[in-house]
Amino acid sequence: MEFFLDTANLDEIRAATQQGLVDGVTTNPTLLAREGGEWRYQAKRICEEVDGPVSLEVVGLTAAEMEREAEDLIGFGDNVVIKLPMTGEGLVVCKALTAKNIKTNVTLVFSAMQALLAAKAGATYVSPFVGRLDGLSQDGMQLIEQIRTIYDNYGFPTKILIASVRNPLHVLDGALIGADVATIPFSVIKQLVHHPMTDKGLEAFLKDWEAFAR
Ligand code: E4P
Repeated sequence: MEFFLDTANLDEIRAATQQGLVDGVTTNPTLLAREGGEWRYQAKRICEEVDGPVSLEVVGLTAAEMEREAEDLIGFGDNVVIKLPMTGEGLVVCKALTAKNIKTNVTLVFSAMQALLAAKAGATYVSPFVGRLDGLSQDGMQLIEQIRTIYDNYGFPTKILIASVRNPLHVLDGALIGADVATIPFSVIKQLVHHPMTDKGLEAFLKDWEAFAR
């Protein structure tokens, strides 16, 4: 399973990269806005620093606007993936960009049928938002299972990218189901690394060693 970092923060990207945990990055308008400053500069820096795909999202609503933005964004680096909303217009642009061999990530996916449509339009990645579904008392992971089954039934190459990850269980369940990628906030990366029994065991080893080696 590939790990993408769900962030626009360079310090987080550098820290997780040093741990060997960054296969790519996903950004969105909210994450870039959170960083403040000049978003174009920030997005280009991310593309330069990340050795892997970087999703940059369009904000236009019409196909013409999205295509114009996509043309601009692909100039930010060879690793740019154009993130498009799961709308009728977004699908038009997904199909057009796929025909030009430009990678796409169809985002804001909340149903298996939306995921099927994204795959039919040639999306490189599809982003089902599991945490937001859980927040509505729906089962985000059931959606991942459904999409996995549908893509396997028909041999769609579109990669399932679990988005809106809220906790380590989302990553575990996604890996067991066979999702291709999880895009993970840095806070959840830290939770994945940490285990209280590891801390306790380390403390005991060091205490015993200190008593022996003194
Ligand atoms: C995916 O690419 C999105 O950036 C992301 O996971 C958004 O999730 P959230 O806003 O629900 O945390």
